[in-house]
Amino acid sequence: MSSQSPAKRLSAPDIRQRKGGEPIVSLTAYHAHTARIVDPYVDFLLVGDSLGMVMHGYESTIPVPLDLMIMHGSAVVRGSSHALVVVDLPFGSYEESPQAAFRNAARVMKETGCGAVKLEGGERMAETIRYLTERGIPVMAHIGLTPQSVNMMGGFKTQGRERAEWAVIEADAKAIADAGAFSVVLEGMAELLAARLTKDIPIPTIGIGASAECDGQILVLEDMLGLSPRVPKFVKEFASLGDAIETAVKAYADEVRERRFPAPEHTYTMRDEADPATKTPKMTGS
Ligand code: KIV
Repeated sequence: MSSQSPAKRLSAPDIRQRKGGEPIVSLTAYHAHTARIVDPYVDFLLVGDSLGMVMHGYESTIPVPLDLMIMHGSAVVRGSSHALVVVDLPFGSYEESPQAAFRNAARVMKETGCGAVKLEGGERMAETIRYLTERGIPVMAHIGLTPQSVNMMGGFKTQGRERAEWAVIEADAKAIADAGAFSVVLEGMAELLAARLTKDIPIPTIGIGASAECDGQILVLEDMLGLSPRVPKFVKEFASLGDAIETAVKAYADEVRERRFPAPEHTYTMRDEADPATKTPKMTGS
């Protein structure tokens, strides 16, 4: 065995034991290049099924197939080396039975090399979470606003803004923690409720549109970079890459139309031709 071990990637148990400690930082990633940039700064990368909307232009996450999650999941694993990679189980791949969930989650783990899966739902998914975790599949749960239930909710609606809704959401949080989930995403819920759940359950809560009291935070990368055309209230745009891309593309289009691009430094001379920049023969031509 080699005496030099490669830097160890974070695992689901590493995230689990961060309950109440230093905030857990996470972002979504859908492909290798962005995963490589984000990886050193986050504790886990989520290959979220939001990729259906962000990358593929669907109106919701409902149409996303398992094979697409596997394709993007393996790209993110290849592009990263430090963060835990969590891959979403898409709608229709886990709800039918614990056995179906295990079959599909095992495929995701084997074919992507990720360290955990995420699924949506509270009490109703507790049996499945227990089944998966007892068989070696770490599960991150997701409650509150669960986008795969958009057709039942009648839209992307913030949860828990009426105290009457709290008991059900609290029961969901307790059930998934008891079932063995190593952490839970709290999406789109009243701040007071998210803070209370964070105090009440023993696993890390990861907030998105929830509370600064959560044990960690996640955002969709394209949203926080200013690349998404519309973002919810809870998104802070830390950059304006959409504007930067438009400026760059416009400059490129202008230069192409004016025949200013490609310039001599972007072209290949013949091997025996003088380099126009230095007036000396080029040493390399490849
Ligand atoms: O799919 C996704 O990006 C998610 C995050 C919003 C948590 O589930």
